[in-house]
Amino acid sequence: MSTSRIPGFYKMTVDERRQLIAKMHRLTEEEKEALFHSSSLTVETADKMIENTIGTFSLPLGLGLNFLINGRDYVVPMAIEEASVVASASYIAKIVREAGGFTTEATDRVMIGQIQVVGCPDFKQAEETILENKNMLIKEANDAYPSLIARGGGAVDLEVRLLNESSESKYNQMLVVHIYVNTCDAMGANIINTMAEALAPTVERLTEGKVYLRILSNFADRSLARAKCVIPPELLASDGFSGEEVRDGVIYAYEFADSDPYRAVTHNKGIMNGIDPVVIATGNDWRAVEAGAHAYAVKDGEYRSMTTWSVDDDGNLVGELELPMSIGTVGGATRVHPLSKIALKILDISSAKQLAQVIVAVGLAQNLGALKALATEGIQRGHMGLHSRSVAMAAGATGEMIDIIAEKLIQANEIRVGKAKQLLEEYKQ
Ligand code: MEV
Repeated sequence: MSTSRIPGFYKMTVDERRQLIAKMHRLTEEEKEALFHSSSLTVETADKMIENTIGTFSLPLGLGLNFLINGRDYVVPMAIEEASVVASASYIAKIVREAGGFTTEATDRVMIGQIQVVGCPDFKQAEETILENKNMLIKEANDAYPSLIARGGGAVDLEVRLLNESSESKYNQMLVVHIYVNTCDAMGANIINTMAEALAPTVERLTEGKVYLRILSNFADRSLARAKCVIPPELLASDGFSGEEVRDGVIYAYEFADSDPYRAVTHNKGIMNGIDPVVIATGNDWRAVEAGAHAYAVKDGEYRSMTTWSVDDDGNLVGELELPMSIGTVGGATRVHPLSKIALKILDISSAKQLAQVIVAVGLAQNLGALKALATEGIQRGHMGLHSRSVAMAAGATGEMIDIIAEKLIQANEIRVGKAKQLLEEYKQ
């Protein structure tokens, strides 16, 4: 296992960073080749992944450092276009590391398949019949995907929900069968959809109704991951703010998000700033994770903060995050995209449950990074350094000119493409 504490990593050149990581994580020649050449997803592979392919689309891939989770170090690959996210996650992970690291846990990965049945002559009777035949249906689901049982998973339970029972309209009166499946290290969409489709004829026979939809639910509330950190205030002090001031600012910021959906959406977007890049880098379906996370934020009937921040009896700042995590480490793009295979190798994880825990820890760190900055100096100062480089590049700066122009933009306090163009012209003369 490699350390995730690499002082001065940000000061190295891209090539030095690559060589170091390749050595630390024992990348093979083939893996190095894929990592060092950003076109590692060939257009031939891309053409097999989606339709109407005309090319591939790249994102910056950075490493979240300093993560100590359940006593183990993790170097976290993050694919994202937004400046400051990777730096902020690594900065907070360093603080949390000094406080003992993140503690995380995850439930078994039980995903949900839904089968929609309409037009039953007697919905109550249909519900009873399905429940009487529960074991037979679970067996039929497992017969449709036998390899899952061999991997230690499989359909484990089944429930029935009646929706709009007393409605006058035939369109919204329905019975929904939920099949619960332990999908092990797979995200599970294919497994669940195969099972749901296989069960449909039996469900129709038992209910005397008609089955329409047979599909995975992305509200994966039986596949949860949790992260927690406890930080003594002295570790939070910075930029002329005492640790207690920062701690209280973070708690006030959390309470704001927890009471106001206008703020909660932005607060939660900041959490997803940490989560999505890891989900993307590991080849997972970030739309599924996004949809599940936001639905979970409204599970009490109101859209709230995904995290909680509080103070314990010793004055420590306590942060917690629990989210559904429909991700996998086998199947889908995790196996096809060369970089996601390397990302999983750098993470050095052995299961989807472990990956889910790393992801929520990064989300929690990202949230604290944003709240700490917002409650103190604001986010613009930190953003401006990197933003000015993007502006310099947009104005046509290349190579060493990027940093020179970026620095001049900051000094002039005018971070605009027009100003950058003018500075570039001046420099050429
Ligand atoms: C920006 O991408 C994310 C933040 O807006 C999150 C937040 O406000 O908590 C800084």
